[in-house]
Amino acid sequence: MTNCALGAEVARRRTFAIISHPDAGKTTLTEKLLLYGGAIHVAGQVSARKRQREVTSDWMTLERERGISITSTVLQFPYAGCVINLLDTPGHQDFGEDTYRTLLAADSAVMLIDAAKGVEPQTKKLFAICRERAIPLFTFINKLDRPSRDPLDLLDELERVLGIRAYPVNWPLGNGERFRGVYDRASRRLHLFERSAHGATRAAVEVTDARDERLRALVDDSTYAQFRDALDLLEGAGAPFDPQTMLRGEVRPVFLASAVTNFGVALFLDDFVRMAPAPGPQRLRGGGIVRPDGELFTGFVFKIQANMDPRHRDRVAFVRICSGRFARDLTVRNARSGSTVRLSRAMRLFADTRESLETAYAGDVVGLANPGVFAIGDTLCDTAAGAEVAFPKIPAFAPEHFATIRSADTATYKAFAKGIAQLSEEGAVQVFEPWQPGAYEPVLGVVGELQLEVAKYRLESEYGVRTFVSKLPYTLAMHVASDGRAIASMEVPSNARLVRDGEGKAVALFESEWSLRLAREWNPSMSFAAFGAAA
Ligand code: G4P
Repeated sequence: MTNCALGAEVARRRTFAIISHPDAGKTTLTEKLLLYGGAIHVAGQVSARKRQREVTSDWMTLERERGISITSTVLQFPYAGCVINLLDTPGHQDFGEDTYRTLLAADSAVMLIDAAKGVEPQTKKLFAICRERAIPLFTFINKLDRPSRDPLDLLDELERVLGIRAYPVNWPLGNGERFRGVYDRASRRLHLFERSAHGATRAAVEVTDARDERLRALVDDSTYAQFRDALDLLEGAGAPFDPQTMLRGEVRPVFLASAVTNFGVALFLDDFVRMAPAPGPQRLRGGGIVRPDGELFTGFVFKIQANMDPRHRDRVAFVRICSGRFARDLTVRNARSGSTVRLSRAMRLFADTRESLETAYAGDVVGLANPGVFAIGDTLCDTAAGAEVAFPKIPAFAPEHFATIRSADTATYKAFAKGIAQLSEEGAVQVFEPWQPGAYEPVLGVVGELQLEVAKYRLESEYGVRTFVSKLPYTLAMHVASDGRAIASMEVPSNARLVRDGEGKAVALFESEWSLRLAREWNPSMSFAAFGAAA
């Protein structure tokens, strides 16, 4: 395939993730995007399938009981000549690390905000990750059909709390009971809102001029006056939207809409495909870059998930393609292990269905059956690629909650060890072993407490192992390195513990900063280093 043909495929890819505080409407918006992308024909199908899956998978039962979404899937659909890859992220705050890894595979993100609530705690955390990674960000202010906060106030909050210079691409006429439509600033047209019952199908939209006299009859005088004043203010505020400033992270486009009624979804999608970046060059560990239209295949594993589908009970590694063309049976080299693997069982995953995948390009995500050969962060590349082709490692978040876990029944020990190993491989928990060899009673480390509950639940439902989990008082894990003295001779405060991580490296667990300070004083020849990424 020529560079030019590859370039054309890359140029039409849009790979993004939606981030939001739970309940802002992520599931709803996802479903509406699929509806407008023609991937489903009647909204409600995805949630119906989700319910069906809930019946067959115990893990899903936990999700339902707790009202959380903890799995992530990849949804691909065509729209306006583009191929959209929507990477779903878990909604619950305890799964921020999973979201972080997914954002590494995204080229842009949509931050969803509830118009009545504004910026919420989880929005802030996820926004911080996007800013750190300089991901172009779109803001979707949702639920305008409900009583909402003043949109000018919401923009002000975006600026004050997140430091976002916002550019409203459209502007609402009224809200709640008096919501009548949105004005698209670029086309200078007003899209009239018609209340529909849960927007199962695409909404018919009537478009008119903002100065249309009929509008006066649609709203009361004060709503109309507010609308006009706000528009005058915005138009007086400066230059038209420039996508370059968005790509540089200087200005962030904001859309106001109502996902549940489908209102503003098409407007958003049209602008999104125009403004969002196609896959760009990716940085290598050694400092070089890989161009998305480069001929040699490269990609990295950003997620591993075992037992996604109870009917298959296998492990799937999700690979974000960074360059070249993926074709079935491609043989690649794993940069970490140096081994070569033939990718014969590649799939495209769509919600809970999977189909065999023939070709894919930069920006796409391939699901690979993973019999334990891939790990999170692995670089896969064409066998002809040079040794320098390795993407940056994906750092683990510093765990903040710890617990010992043991199998309740010695007969299930083997399944227990397998389950623990697979959960660790997924990055669902970090597993530490006692420093002194003895009975196998691993220590689990997690960022969010709910991860412990999910690990226990999954061990039982997927591996048939009942376990006892005992919480430990530690809050801090530090890698320990010595200047040659044996780590075993280290003096550990009585309320701390020495363990080893999956690579055999020493890790000290502390209850507090104070206890860490003591360890530092007592062991001047040792160094204590924090884990890679901050939660
Ligand atoms: P999440 O994935 O971010 O957690 O949110 P989800 O889409 O599940 O939406 C949370 C609730 O907000 C749902 O109501 C959903 O219908 C509602 N919602 C989403 N978008 C809009 C919107 O634009 N306008 C209004 N008025 N509501 C919206 P629910 O009562 O929990 O569920 P349901 O019975 O409506 O399905």
